[in-house]
Amino acid sequence: MSSQTAQLLDGKALAQRIQEELAQQIQTLQAQNQRLPGLAVLMVGDNPASAAYVRNKERACQKVGIASFGRQFPTETTQAEVEQAIQALNQDDRVDGILVQLPLPDHLDSVALLNQIDPSKDVDGLHPVNMGRLVRGEPGLRSCTPAGVMRLLQEYQIDPKGKHAVVIGRSILVGKPQALLLLEADATVTIAHSKTQNLAAIASSADILIAAIGRPGLITADMVKPGATVIDVGINRITDYEGKSYLVGDVEFEAVRQVAEFITPVPGGIGPMTVAMLLSNTVQSYHQRRS
Ligand code: GUN
Repeated sequence: MSSQTAQLLDGKALAQRIQEELAQQIQTLQAQNQRLPGLAVLMVGDNPASAAYVRNKERACQKVGIASFGRQFPTETTQAEVEQAIQALNQDDRVDGILVQLPLPDHLDSVALLNQIDPSKDVDGLHPVNMGRLVRGEPGLRSCTPAGVMRLLQEYQIDPKGKHAVVIGRSILVGKPQALLLLEADATVTIAHSKTQNLAAIASSADILIAAIGRPGLITADMVKPGATVIDVGINRITDYEGKSYLVGDVEFEAVRQVAEFITPVPGGIGPMTVAMLLSNTVQSYHQRRS
């Protein structure tokens, strides 16, 4: 065990800096009377966590000067209605980015809806064309959370090259694209998931450990190699015995910070980076669609 506690990877501060840079770029466009970048976040239903994420994204857009074209649909909205909304946004030249907030209510087919998004406006990087580009190592729009993890590692000069990176979680939103981005950065990558045997042994061989499962306290100190970098993507709301609610990650933060060299806090780690990457992807898409 190392004698010092881990250094915090401050996603909140970096996200703020990225947003300030984007705001400056957008101010320049404004001064030149150019059209401003636009983002549409679509949400269906009233999942409170999703509603909070969507509010965050819209607030961040407003702060940097990105125009919002978001829409909220009631839970009972049909597949055809959401498809029509996506088609309209695909045609709308003021809109550079379209994001369908997940998860969707059970009666909707999210894969079919994501497939409807124009790949040049797919700022979430979840369309098969952008996923395919990622698999092939070609430039394209990258999923926001995994891109945020890579940007934060870069900021602290943590180079994945040649390191063993273990990604716990295999979701389309985080685990899979995260593993591919780490591979692109020359890491040796292992993907673990809920059916993995000997998770502790695999996790504790990681130089870079990424937890993206959504289970509070999954990663304990004995699962972490001394000196490792621990990235906590989990955002779980828990309620204590007094009825107070908190956000926690997948990592037992206080114990693991005694073992790791670098660690992300929750909140203030990867969450804000996801939003910053979404805005950055929207501005990237804006420039690409104009060129
Ligand atoms: N739900 C939670 N995080 C995300 C995200 O980054 N994108 C989308 N589309 N849905 C989410």
